[in-house]
Amino acid sequence: MFAVTATSFDPTNPLAGLTLGEVDDTVVPEGWVRVHVRAAALNHHDLWTLKGVGLKADRLPMILGTDAAGVLDDGTEVVVHGVIGDPLAGGGDETLDPGRTLLSELHPGTFAETVAVPQRNLVPKPSELSWAESACLPTAWLTAYRMLATKSGLRVGDTVLIQGAGGGVATAAIQIADAMGFQVWVTSRDEAKRVRAIDLGADAAFETGTRLPARVDAVIETVGEATWSHSLKALRPGGTIVVSGATSGPNPPADLARVYFLQLNVVGSTMGTRDELDSLVSLLVDTGVRPTIDATFPLADARQAFERLASGDVVGKLVLTNG
Ligand SMILES: NC(=O)c1ccc[n+]([C@@H]2O[C@H](COP(=O)([O-])OP(=O)(O)OC[C@H]3O[C@@H](n4cnc5c(N)ncnc54)[C@H](OP(=O)(O)O)[C@@H]3O)[C@@H](O)[C@H]2O)c1
Repeated sequence: MFAVTATSFDPTNPLAGLTLGEVDDTVVPEGWVRVHVRAAALNHHDLWTLKGVGLKADRLPMILGTDAAGVLDDGTEVVVHGVIGDPLAGGGDETLDPGRTLLSELHPGTFAETVAVPQRNLVPKPSELSWAESACLPTAWLTAYRMLATKSGLRVGDTVLIQGAGGGVATAAIQIADAMGFQVWVTSRDEAKRVRAIDLGADAAFETGTRLPARVDAVIETVGEATWSHSLKALRPGGTIVVSGATSGPNPPADLARVYFLQLNVVGSTMGTRDELDSLVSLLVDTGVRPTIDATFPLADARQAFERLASGDVVGKLVLTNG
């Protein structure tokens, strides 16, 4: 079958290790099912993999892709939950299973004609969402949903600051936070992205690092070093920063005095559970909110999609389609 594979790592030129072509057909282990992929969205995770972050060289070649929507052999339409983990091993939460992996970390990913996943990793695809929209949900949208709905402690009417408004998680967070009834403030380095964020539902958009008119109840942080200090300063006493990514670097100054003196909560978050994915799908069906798609490409043109992701000039999701 045709697949998009990481065949080597290069921290400075990640696309050098991107290989498109024929691979062996999907092996379906006992208790797993084959999904014929109709659409799969790109995530920064795929670039990290090509840079050699999170994957050991002995696992190459590896089919990339952490999320997808597709069809089972019997025609059932599904959204694929990309977290491979055992809820029992994580106290009822598979994302807390110490042995948890994402598709493309241990098991082949979704940028292929078919992918194998455990039976429990399937969520029914609603007819209201397109294939491309459904494919955006399991990684970036699920991550944003867990950050807001499960981790932030936000209540209706509270104010949330979302850093780096152009990113895949950030654009999802803007739309979900707006749908959940929060006051949504965003930052972006780019004027056009700030305008777009307002279009998506943000109540106010600020240049990155700008002093805000008031303190916020929670911050959604995926940018990392470039915005961490601003995130801590933006919080009200007792506020919560939920962090799920560090695109600009993972080691900003901790500013511990501010953390303890203002009793700030620093909360890590990664992906989400299958049940949270189910709830996210329901939220979208009920509210009419739909993922923002920057562009779609046929699977065979995946290199163009990766070039676009690497350029950073993206608002919303890049989606690969098949069939
Ligand atoms: N833990 C999880 O489960 C999980 C899931 C999904 C993603 N992630 C992580 O979350 C992060 C975000 O991923 P993504 O795909 O949503 O978006 P992304 O393409 O990595 O970009 C996020 C945003 O960061 C801002 N940014 C990047 N470099 C910056 C810099 N030097 N200074 C200021 N701002 C900068 C940009 O915002 P502006 O251009 O608007 O300023 C950009 O739109 C990644 O690190 C990814 O690995 C984690």
